Amino acid sequence: MNKIIYLDSAASYLKDDVVVNAQVDFLSKHYANSGRGICARAVYVDDMIMRARQRVAEFMNADKNQIVFNSGTTDGMNTISKMLNLGADKTVLVSDLDHHSARLPFVKSGANICVCPLDENFDIDIDNIPYADVFVITAMSNVLGRPQDVANIIKSARKKNPDVITVVDCAQYVVHHEIDVKLWDCDFACWSGHKIGADTGLGVMYIKNPEKFAPVNFGGGMVRRVVGNDLILMDAPECFEAGTLPLTQISGLVSAIDLLEKNRPDLGLIKYAYDQLLNCSRIKLITSRDAALVTFVVDDMHVLDFGALIGARGVCLRVGNMCATWIHERLGYDGSVRISIGAYNTMDEINTVIRYIKEILK
Ligand SMILES: Cc1ncc(COP(=O)(O)O)c(C=O)c1O
Repeated sequence: MNKIIYLDSAASYLKDDVVVNAQVDFLSKHYANSGRGICARAVYVDDMIMRARQRVAEFMNADKNQIVFNSGTTDGMNTISKMLNLGADKTVLVSDLDHHSARLPFVKSGANICVCPLDENFDIDIDNIPYADVFVITAMSNVLGRPQDVANIIKSARKKNPDVITVVDCAQYVVHHEIDVKLWDCDFACWSGHKIGADTGLGVMYIKNPEKFAPVNFGGGMVRRVVGNDLILMDAPECFEAGTLPLTQISGLVSAIDLLEKNRPDLGLIKYAYDQLLNCSRIKLITSRDAALVTFVVDDMHVLDFGALIGARGVCLRVGNMCATWIHERLGYDGSVRISIGAYNTMDEINTVIRYIKEILK
């Protein structure tokens, strides 16, 4: 049996021991619910959440009252779509870079959906952004792996409508680039903890002006007082966090962020893989050399067959449409094969996988 080689970090990042140990420490020594007691343990948990929120705020150049914890990017996008109370009289601008999670909540809102043009590199065409009431911006496609110029995209969208509400999907971008929400001047930004090495079930939703929006979920932990059926909400961000938070996942988040900032994935490995695959006659590369991923299709072989053959050799990579139907349609493929890396991958692993690919295709 071959050694497992994990090249699917864009789907979910592997967890470092520092994250695992932080979560085990929390579960075994400090566990309690948050915001619901004044005992020593509850105070510890409240303090842990406060520190995690502060760390996330620094990480994104935000203020801590603008940081809402939720279950992930998908949750954030659904919440935002509901909070905006959209209908057929509103135009939501999307792009073919979107993951299903970013676009579908807006499609299902009943709003008028308009697709933003891409330029010849498949980047959002900054000079041709149409009018929008809401603009969903995928900061990095999970198929093409190219960072978008979010600050200038937003500036350009505001020339058409100064009040456009901008929603940035940072699920892939956050792994490879610093997020600066003040520089971007976006209204919302979402990402998922599991893509940066924290646990699943935890996400972040940044809201620039929390006081302008009302929560769409109701329950424990978000009201100050209830009188009959009337309620007085807590201030942001707590008013947007109904119910028990994913406490165990939050306990590992600061370690995951610290580690990511010290040690981002080495994109030199991706360039190397790209250069090696460029010489394989049956491979058609979809990504550019400077992307954060390598995505390709294979001549005369279905991507699922390729996936089975490489999977049988112990390699974990992604095949299929990757919840990104629109960019695949645009490129004329049903799906593709994606290699993505974490800081834990090595040149030896890349060389082994290239050897396996050549063996499969010979
Ligand atoms: C660009 C992009 N957006 C959104 C998502 C959805 O993330 P989650 O499933 O963690 O909510 C993903 C996950 O693959 C993604 O790559």
